[in-house]
Amino acid sequence: MPDPSHYVGAMALPPLGFGVATSAFQIEGAADEGGRGRSTWDEFCERPGAIVDGSDGRTACDSYHRVAEDVALLEGLGVSCYRFSVAWPRIQPDGRGPANAAGLDFYDALVDRLLGRGIRPLPTLFHWDLPLDLEHAGGWPVRDTAFRFVDYAGLVMDRLGDRVPTWATMNEPWCTAFLGHASGVFAPGRREPRAALAAAHHLLLGHALAARSRPGLDVGIVLNLTSVRQEPGGDPGAVAVVDALQNGLWLGALAEGSYPDILDVPAVCEGDLDTICGSAAWLGVNYYTPFRIGPMTGEVNAVGQDIDAFPGAPAFSFAPRPPLTSMGWEVDAVGLEETLRATAAVLPGVPLRITENGASFPDATRAEDGSVDDQDRIGYLRGHLAAVDAVRAEGVPVLDYVAWSLLDNFEWAQGYTKTFGLVSIEPDTLRRIPKASYRWFAEQVASRSR
Ligand code: FCB
Repeated sequence: MPDPSHYVGAMALPPLGFGVATSAFQIEGAADEGGRGRSTWDEFCERPGAIVDGSDGRTACDSYHRVAEDVALLEGLGVSCYRFSVAWPRIQPDGRGPANAAGLDFYDALVDRLLGRGIRPLPTLFHWDLPLDLEHAGGWPVRDTAFRFVDYAGLVMDRLGDRVPTWATMNEPWCTAFLGHASGVFAPGRREPRAALAAAHHLLLGHALAARSRPGLDVGIVLNLTSVRQEPGGDPGAVAVVDALQNGLWLGALAEGSYPDILDVPAVCEGDLDTICGSAAWLGVNYYTPFRIGPMTGEVNAVGQDIDAFPGAPAFSFAPRPPLTSMGWEVDAVGLEETLRATAAVLPGVPLRITENGASFPDATRAEDGSVDDQDRIGYLRGHLAAVDAVRAEGVPVLDYVAWSLLDNFEWAQGYTKTFGLVSIEPDTLRRIPKASYRWFAEQVASRSR
C-alpha cells in the first residue's frame, strides 16, 4: 500500500457526498431544438451498423423537456450533487463563434433549479459530442480543436461560474481518443492509431488551457482509470502498453508533465506538457471494471475492450472473470480500491471524486409494483461503495461518490440495449419508473446524513 502521507496527511475528510450522473447526448434528445447543431455522435448514429440496435439520440430520455421531472427524481434520492454534461453543439452549433442564447439559457435554468433544491451542480463540458463542423475541420487530432474547446468552455463558465464553482472539462478522453480514432467503435469512427495519440494530447491540452483560463474556478478532469492485471499466459509487454494508454498517459502528463516512455505521442509542442502538468484541481475517476490481460485467444472481447483500441500492444485478449455485467465487464470492487490508492499516490493532495460507477444488468425481475427488482445492481453498488469507504479510512481523499446513472439511457454503440439506470424508462411513454436500486440508494444517502 502506498504511504498514506502521500495523501492529505491528517486532514479529516468531510462526509462523503452522493450524486448521480448523466450526459447530454445520452439523455436530452430534442436534437433539432433550441438551435442545437449536429455533433459527431449524430452523424455516427446514421452509419449502418455503428449502433447495435440502429438507434440514436434524437429523443433519448427526452430530458430536455422533462427537466422538472428529472430534478424531482434527484430530490427523491436526496443526493447532494448532480453530474450532467453541457452539449457543446447547443452552445456553439458549429463549434465556434458567439454563444447560442437558447443553449446557455437551458443550462442556466437547470443550474437554478438544482440550486433551488439544495443540489450542487457538477457540470462536465465535454462528454463526447463534438460539433460536427469541428470534426470536418480535422477534429481532436488537430491542434486547433483544443483552442476551440477553450473558447467554448469560457462561454459556459462565464455564464454559470457565479453559481457553479466546480467543473469537469473532459469526460474519459481515453474513449474519445482511442475508441473514437483507433478502434473506431465510437464517434467519429476513425481507425488511425497515430491520430488517436494526437487526439489524446489535444484533449489534455484543451483541458489544461480551459482550466487555467478561469483560475477562480475549481476545474478538474474525469478519467476512466483502472487496475491492469497480468493473467497466466498474458504478455507483460501488453500489460505495460495497456496500462500506459489507459492510466499512465493521462496521469503522467497531469502529475509529472511527461508521457510514458513506451508511448510515442505525436503533436507535442514545446511548453504543452508544462501547461498540462498540475492543471487538474481535482480528479474524477470513472471506474467499472479491472482489466485482465490474457493470451491472444481470438475470442470476442467485452464491450469497449477491443484490442484495436490499444495500438502498439503485443497480441493479447481481455480475460474477465465472472461475475460479469451485461456489458461483459467483470464485477470487482478491489480494482476500485487499487485504482484509488494508486491515483492518490501519483497526485498527492489532489482531491478525488468517483464521477461514475455502476452496472448494466438485464433488469428482468419485477417487484410486485411492476418496478425492476435489481438486486444485482444493488450488490454492485454496495460493494463499490464499501471500497470507497475503505480507502477513505486510509486517508485517500475521495470527496464524492457519483453513480452512473440516474436514468437508463442511450448507451453509445450499444444503443438502448444496456441499462445502467437507477430509474427505468418505459419505451413508448418515456415514463420514469424508479428501480429497487433507486430506493436503496436513497436509503444510503439518508442513513449517512442521520
Ligand atoms: C462511461 C461513459 C458513460 C457511460 C458509462 C457506462 O464510459 O462515460 O457515458 O456510457 O461508461
